[in-house]
Amino acid sequence: MSRTLTIPRPDDWHLHLRDGAVLRAVLPETARYFGRAIIMPNLVPPVVTGAQAAAYRDRIMDALPDGMNFTPLMTLYLTEDTDPADVAAVHGSGLVTAVKLYPAGATTNSASGVRDFDRVRPVLEKMAEIGMPLCVHGEVTDAEIDIFDREAVFIDRVLDPLRRATPGLRIVMEHITTQQGVEYVKSNAENLGATITTHHLVINRNHILVGGIKPHYYCLPVAKREEHRLALRAAATSGDARFFLGTDSAPHTDPNKESACGCAGCFTATNTISILAEVFEQEDALDRLAGFASEHGARFYGLPVSAETITLSRGDPVTYPPKIDTGDGPVTLFDPQMPLHWRVV
Ligand code: NCD
Ligand code: ZN
Repeated sequence: MSRTLTIPRPDDWHLHLRDGAVLRAVLPETARYFGRAIIMPNLVPPVVTGAQAAAYRDRIMDALPDGMNFTPLMTLYLTEDTDPADVAAVHGSGLVTAVKLYPAGATTNSASGVRDFDRVRPVLEKMAEIGMPLCVHGEVTDAEIDIFDREAVFIDRVLDPLRRATPGLRIVMEHITTQQGVEYVKSNAENLGATITTHHLVINRNHILVGGIKPHYYCLPVAKREEHRLALRAAATSGDARFFLGTDSAPHTDPNKESACGCAGCFTATNTISILAEVFEQEDALDRLAGFASEHGARFYGLPVSAETITLSRGDPVTYPPKIDTGDGPVTLFDPQMPLHWRVV
């Protein structure tokens, strides 16, 4: 039996596009399916000023193939030197949608991130005043905290105090990976949402470590135990509007992944929609896919849901190329290790 599903054109509320040759190769993979995406600013050097965000947006639009429609929603990388007035100006002009907080050292290219959270308080106060969202990479970086506990500890030590100090600030907990993350969002009605990646709905930590080390399943925050994956699936498919899609599609070339010190990041842009449809079908929640992928995030960011639609059709399993070529080398696509029956037609 063939079936179809039509949903508003999805948006990706957390995406790494990189720059140069990789940008040109990965951008069409997202723009084929998604209307808008929140673009992560962790380039080298990071996107910290309005001028850098404008130049990066121009490079993205230059890389977009003719005939494709896509709106990059730019972010600024928060540093201890970020000026509240600059942030307000670039938000007011419509150039920048959100600010990204990386604890220094938490993940790829985060060395310029925040060490002393008191030093960014004036920026956060200004953002609360003007209604500008803060996207948070929620992991502590203290050497003594086990990597599998870093998200839960961040909630207690950093996020909760920060929210109490600046209650009007709208915060997105990005790429949550734990039951604690899900529970924290559910127990806080005001001004808090969370993105969930495609791959964290599919893998747990065994996928990374059992039967040999699998660098293409390594990302940050690292996948946790199975009970956490199940909590994420329940949250994503619940219809709760505080949870929405942020793929965190994060391309690294194969030599940078398959290395003695491999980079963190899973590249999922190409097959994300097929995987999500499969997951939502497995959870008997296909009617909630539109909410998660196309509606809740727009609502959180105060933007209209797309007036365009995409249609998925169910049939024989669809295959995707295992890698895409970029001018800088091949990038391996996330392998969900299950047949995917839904394709965008
Ligand atoms: C991201 C990257 O490669 O830029 N990596 C990842 O594992 N998700 C950074 C990030 O979002 O943490
Ligand atoms: Zn990311």
